[in-house]
Amino acid sequence: MSIILSDFVRGLPKAELHLHIEGTLEPELMFELATRNGVTLPFADIEAVRRAYDFSNLQDFLDLYYAGAAVLLTERDFHDLAMAYFRRLHADGGVHAEIFFDPQTHTERGVPFAVVMNGLLSAIDEAQRTLGVSCGLIMSFLRHLSEEQAFDTLREAEPWLDRFMGVGLDSSEMGHPPSKFARVFEEVRRRGLKVLAHAGEEGPPDYVREALDILHVDRIDHGNRAMEDPALVKRLADMGMTLTVCPLSNLKLCVVRDLRDHPMKRMLDAGLHATINSDDPAYFGGYLLANYVDTAKAVELTRDDLVQLARNSFSGSFLPQNEKSRHLAEIDAYAARYPGALR
Ligand code: HPA
Ligand code: ZN
Repeated sequence: MSIILSDFVRGLPKAELHLHIEGTLEPELMFELATRNGVTLPFADIEAVRRAYDFSNLQDFLDLYYAGAAVLLTERDFHDLAMAYFRRLHADGGVHAEIFFDPQTHTERGVPFAVVMNGLLSAIDEAQRTLGVSCGLIMSFLRHLSEEQAFDTLREAEPWLDRFMGVGLDSSEMGHPPSKFARVFEEVRRRGLKVLAHAGEEGPPDYVREALDILHVDRIDHGNRAMEDPALVKRLADMGMTLTVCPLSNLKLCVVRDLRDHPMKRMLDAGLHATINSDDPAYFGGYLLANYVDTAKAVELTRDDLVQLARNSFSGSFLPQNEKSRHLAEIDAYAARYPGALR
């Protein structure tokens, strides 16, 4: 018996490993929070916000993403933002998430670090209790700011370091290579935290190399442009490095011209440990399930590819081995229960 592609993927247990919580701010919630907090938005209405989401590169998007974050002021705002995301993840069949947050986007506006943390942590507890969704936090440094500012942020984060799964690097990639943050990530690693970096989204393969050789990353976020360098692809495949790829983000930010040109199929065929993720779904037009389904249709992913992607999302996660094994066994049991072709 055959099964509809989207039903199959929805039922497949999945983890999301590349998600910026500030990027889940839907225009409806943006307006609701603006009203609640007395913040004036530079948009007349929700439709005007949606019309503005027409990006030609990463910076275009980041300008709006930082502007939108201005409505986030209280613990309740961060809580509501995160809960809205967890409900969507749950509806898509996601059971675990490792989410980025950008403290500097908030502390620079005068929002205390504790407000951000208390709001996010209470939502994480509620998601576990009410939805059975587990979640880890990844603090991200903004790479357009200085390494000194990243050190300041690390110091401010001190009381919560044991609540983080890792520390990442995001924002404007070009001109801000991983090597700019060599010393601060050495300190992050000394604290026993995992290290991640966005690399090779817009930046060249050399930025991916720097992330490996200088930051000693545990995961690469995006990594698309590694595909231009066969020796680098082989190295990433041989070391089993997880790439957190975000197809609808790549489309909206013009990293690919058409989803049919997306490298996901080629990445899997090259033996890369790739995963599918949504990045900033409120801005890029699709959450986790839409990323899987649209990509599967566009580049003709097979049923085995989809199962492999779901497996990669747990084996590439920072969960303890026993939890990884439990999720992987659930995927295998699910795949065995629905052996039919996809339509
Ligand atoms: N790339 C870099 N920085 C980001 C992104 C992204 O896709 N989303 C939020 N911050
Ligand atoms: Zn990202």
